Amino acid sequence: MQFSLIIPTLNEADNIDPLLTSIFSLNDLGNQFEIIIVDDHSADGTPDKIKQWQRTHNVHLVERNAHQPDLTASIIEGVAVAKYDVVAVMDADLSHSPEKLAALIQPVLANQYDITIGSRYIPGGDTIGWPFYRLWLSRAGGWLARAICDVNDATSGFFAFRKEFIHRITDNARGYKILLELLMTGGNQPLRVKEIPIHFRNRLHGTSKLSLSHHLAYLQQLIILAGGTISFHTASRFAIVGFLGVFIDVFIFQWLTGQGASLATAHISSFIAAASFNYTLNSKWSFRLHHAGHLQWNQFSRFLIVGIFAMLLRGAILAWLVYTWNIATEWAIFPAIIATAIVNYLGSAFYVFPRTKPAASTDTHWRIAAIGIVGFVILLRLVYISVAQLIPDEAYYWQYAQHMDLSFFDHPPMVAWLIWLGTTLAGHNEFGVRLGAFASGLIAMGYLYTFACNLYDKSTAMRSVLLLAIVPFGFAAGLAITPDAPLVAAWAATLYYLERALLANRSQAWFGVGIAFGIGILSKYTLGLLGIAALIFILVDATARYWLRRPHPYLAVLIALILFSPVIIWNIENDWASFAFQTTRVGKVHHELSTHKLLLQIAIMLTPVGLVAAAFALRSVTLSYCQREEVRKALFIIIFTGVPLAVFFVASVFGPLRFHWTGPLWLALIPTMAWMIGKRDQFKHAVNWLNTAWQPMIIVSLLTYAFILHYATLGIPGLPYQFLNEHYFWKEATAEVEKISDEIKQVTGETPVVVGMSKWSVASALAFYGNSHPPLEIRSRNLFGEHASMYSYWYPDESSIHQPILLVGMKPRALEKAGSPSENLENKLVNPGKINSRIIYRHDGIVLRTLYYRIAEGYRGSSINTDKRLSPQ
Ligand code: GDD
Ligand code: MN
Repeated sequence: MQFSLIIPTLNEADNIDPLLTSIFSLNDLGNQFEIIIVDDHSADGTPDKIKQWQRTHNVHLVERNAHQPDLTASIIEGVAVAKYDVVAVMDADLSHSPEKLAALIQPVLANQYDITIGSRYIPGGDTIGWPFYRLWLSRAGGWLARAICDVNDATSGFFAFRKEFIHRITDNARGYKILLELLMTGGNQPLRVKEIPIHFRNRLHGTSKLSLSHHLAYLQQLIILAGGTISFHTASRFAIVGFLGVFIDVFIFQWLTGQGASLATAHISSFIAAASFNYTLNSKWSFRLHHAGHLQWNQFSRFLIVGIFAMLLRGAILAWLVYTWNIATEWAIFPAIIATAIVNYLGSAFYVFPRTKPAASTDTHWRIAAIGIVGFVILLRLVYISVAQLIPDEAYYWQYAQHMDLSFFDHPPMVAWLIWLGTTLAGHNEFGVRLGAFASGLIAMGYLYTFACNLYDKSTAMRSVLLLAIVPFGFAAGLAITPDAPLVAAWAATLYYLERALLANRSQAWFGVGIAFGIGILSKYTLGLLGIAALIFILVDATARYWLRRPHPYLAVLIALILFSPVIIWNIENDWASFAFQTTRVGKVHHELSTHKLLLQIAIMLTPVGLVAAAFALRSVTLSYCQREEVRKALFIIIFTGVPLAVFFVASVFGPLRFHWTGPLWLALIPTMAWMIGKRDQFKHAVNWLNTAWQPMIIVSLLTYAFILHYATLGIPGLPYQFLNEHYFWKEATAEVEKISDEIKQVTGETPVVVGMSKWSVASALAFYGNSHPPLEIRSRNLFGEHASMYSYWYPDESSIHQPILLVGMKPRALEKAGSPSENLENKLVNPGKINSRIIYRHDGIVLRTLYYRIAEGYRGSSINTDKRLSPQ
């Protein structure tokens, strides 16, 4: 074989003889190769050892005399004198076994691959004899590299490549990880890389030269390769500026809170002051090289965007520390500032002042954006699942969990089970209630990622998760606990297993299909649409039809049925009430063409850009289907998106749908939408426009979420709570209801029975936020013969109540005779008083909402039952 073997050395005297003896005793290498040993001024006599070999064998010594030893520089010097076109690199300490050399070099020599890597992290490879911390460090390093490079062992020191690639390495390449540099030279056109498993053995002689500074240099190199700007120079200046900024920030914040300003006003004002200061200094000083000198609008607007993100996140963290952890405001500001600094720094390095010469590939940019944004979304969710008060829907499902059952009237039980589990683990609080939603959000991301990986590639998969994180239905599903949270996760999981079963022909995957589908249908019946789609796919696709003659799909159906059996049992026990409810709800024909509304709903669920992107993605898979390219994949995407979509379209012809129903069906198409984002050049003008449009769309959606959540918890200075005043702030409203109840008790000597005058919202929210002992007795409006979903089961008709009655409503109409809930209201009450209202304030005096209530002396009983169908025996 004709190749040059480069061996860098630094104080390896004891290893030279055993290494070279072992290499020259190999038969499979032939005798046409040369060995170039690049020594970095070793002090232990290494060069002398090498010179002895030089006389008798094809060994060359390159003696470096640089003022600093450097591995990468050594290898580059070695390559410069190499005679052959193929170059291999290995360590001198026998960690890499010479027996693997032939296998490593052969594929590059044959021009089947551009680079081959001796890999510790693929099946068959391992590391022997390293202490735990080294193993861990190496793993962590490899894991970080995987964000930008699809190789399992990008930090290996044992590899072979075609010599010409060395010229593509950036001039400033330093340190240990020359391989990573090489791998990234591909830019937008991927290199052909092969990994060959190796056993890495710890050295017997001498010591490792790897030190902390190498690890830091590696991190720095990663950031640069990822398209960021970082140098210790920049970082330290940034830190100095930031440090000064913190003083300004803290000073103004403490002063304002001292003056009685609200948390929001104080932190936003101090942020703006500190950020203006930071930007001026950073652009003039820290990132000066990357700054044109005069004000650039593009750069300034990017700076503003990063700043607003950082500020909104810090509000969340402040609220979390102060409200959830009860940390004093003056201390809470410090961790909040640290979080701000991290967002600001990463935002500056990658977005405001990115590396431009040479710029990272678009692909890498999207990867980094995906990681940053998905991380931001997860953090935002993690904070707000504790901080934000429950919306009434969530409180209602929490009520489910207080009445644990096999199923429920208006939904299957998964949402209740999740809440039960979450509150059992984490206690009676918002975090416990929403833990299941948060977990579902992560599970959905995981399955979508692997699904997209299987359909396309890793970059596409990362962008898919990015899209899931930012489209409204995806963002909300990981935050609020509703049946849609587990539904989205199960939908993604079912798709993943179906793809494995139907396209990859893995029979094992059918078990996954059964379990995921069973869990999904326990979450929400909409998932059944995937079942229909699967059936259609099997019938249409000739290859998949084979499964009809195999037991696996039937087993999957059986598993799903067993999982679903609680719902069936509940329905048998309850006269098929929930099936009846669901079929009448879906079947209610309004004869009202609502297709235009459906389109609007999709534009809301996916964002407008998402809607257009979805249309293009569908067109693109249809085209590839017609042109017989990757037919089965295209068919899979068309059917698993098209069938549920068609069902909704047909349904919309007959009447309006609930706006969030279409959400999960896009999971099958998101990978294609994500794939198109990366394929800028292959498509026509419109698609290019679309790709450009995603960027602002992503930013706008994220800003909107962060803004709304900030508004709902800390508030936004100058913006009154006009938009949430009916359905929200039940924590404070409940405290007021308990106060009214106490007042009644003082006058009459009896505690009132509280009746929430809405289907379930008011009663559930009051129950969740109730604090009094014993807890308030709460009923819902089914007392007046009105529909009240599960409340009709939990509290079936009362004969009469000889206690005061306190009616509570979100709007005055709900307490009136003529409005909902029907004329029964006043007939059934003893001496009802007039409708009253109270304004609800936050602890700091901000007006939150109005609460409407009405007091009566008693309840006459439900002699007239207007809603027979709902009352169980
Ligand atoms: N010329 C030169 N200059 N050679 C050096 C230098 C240097 O600055 N530093 C180290 N070497 C040589 C060593 O003499 C040895 O032959 C080889 O490079 C690897 O150095 P070690 O000090 O043995 O590294 P390690 O065993 O801790 O690290 C190994 O695993 C890493 C993966 O975690 C190496 O294979 C690394 O390349 C690899 O990245
Ligand atoms: Mn070593």
